[in-house]
Amino acid sequence: MVVRTEAEIWAEQLETKPLAVVTGDLTKKTIIVTGANSGLGLEACRHFARMNPKKLILACRSLENAHAAISDIDCAAAEAWQLDLGSFQSVLDFSERAEKELERVDVLVANAAIASFDMNITADGYEQMLQVNVLSNLLLALRLSPLLINTAKTHGTVSRIVTVSSGLFYTSTLDSTILGGKTNVYKVMSDKEYYKSSPLASTMNRYTETKLIEVFYTRSLQAHVGTGAPLSVSCLDPGFCISNIRRSMDGPIKEHFSEMEKNGAYTSEEGSRQLVYGAVGGDAETLKGQFFSMCEVREVSDYVLQNADIQNRLWNDAIEVLETVDPKLKQALESTSEP
Ligand SMILES: NC(=O)c1ccc[n+]([C@@H]2O[C@H](COP(=O)([O-])OP(=O)(O)OC[C@H]3O[C@@H](n4cnc5c(N)ncnc54)[C@H](OP(=O)(O)O)[C@@H]3O)[C@@H](O)[C@H]2O)c1
Repeated sequence: MVVRTEAEIWAEQLETKPLAVVTGDLTKKTIIVTGANSGLGLEACRHFARMNPKKLILACRSLENAHAAISDIDCAAAEAWQLDLGSFQSVLDFSERAEKELERVDVLVANAAIASFDMNITADGYEQMLQVNVLSNLLLALRLSPLLINTAKTHGTVSRIVTVSSGLFYTSTLDSTILGGKTNVYKVMSDKEYYKSSPLASTMNRYTETKLIEVFYTRSLQAHVGTGAPLSVSCLDPGFCISNIRRSMDGPIKEHFSEMEKNGAYTSEEGSRQLVYGAVGGDAETLKGQFFSMCEVREVSDYVLQNADIQNRLWNDAIEVLETVDPKLKQALESTSEP
């Protein structure tokens, strides 16, 4: 029975010292990190920079902040690329550029996310956290998958996609209202009327829902490419870390988190060690389709284990949304599906 409460996850962190930093040689490798200008993404880039990468791409919504991050980590192999996950067009532009300019991509660290208490709808028509944390991360992963797989085939390696989820996914289930009808779940979850009508619909829940869906899509994406493919898709909990993620919070919840930040939170650097582990440490084969925490593969929640139908629904509905915005998605899916 795998149900973990927030208190249990926190207690484990308090008992566990930050893990050792993984080291490696990235001389021939290209790594892409989204949300690389702040928090865990920035600190992961600092670690990658020490491993002498061939190319380290800081994919950020502000190029100015990306350039500042590159100066900070002092890495000659680093490049700043613009990527706004709040816009599907930006993800497509980034993917096209990667296809044209990069001869290889070894690792995608899908790290960027937002936690917001406001109900914002993007210009594409989706609730902002849902688009940034889930739909755009998945679109990017799908569009880069052919390049990641070709890189691995050409060089006899295993490429990786690592999504930064959260241990909070253990506490999350999806409101049955979302899944009840035939309407696309991402459309229901982006509907202002749904927010008014369902007692479970709130932006407080939404962040953890997106982290749960990231766990589901990790499993689906690995199943899509197959476990025999030279692409390892995993997701992780970095632990509770001091970063900018809670910047929009206010009131008692902010005080609650401030207390935790004073008493046992990891620094962003400490949390970033798990991103680095997922990207270049551990065994890529063992990590395939898995969630890991404290650098160990962990069993996912019962909700995830027992709801393959929900996993399939979330995957199919995501593909339905993404195919409408990306004419090349079908081709990417076909070229990467398990033979
Ligand atoms: N910190 C924790 O305790 C904790 C715990 C569990 C999981 N996580 C996860 O760790 C990951 C990293 O978060 P963090 O804690 O390092 O927070 P952070 O300091 O706020 O960093 C988040 C990064 O995501 C970027 N981002 C946000 N919206 C974006 C968009 N529309 N397009 C492109 N990039 C965007 C931010 O860019 P801007 O600077 O431009 O906003 C920033 O670079 C997230 O996935 C988060 O959910 C964090």
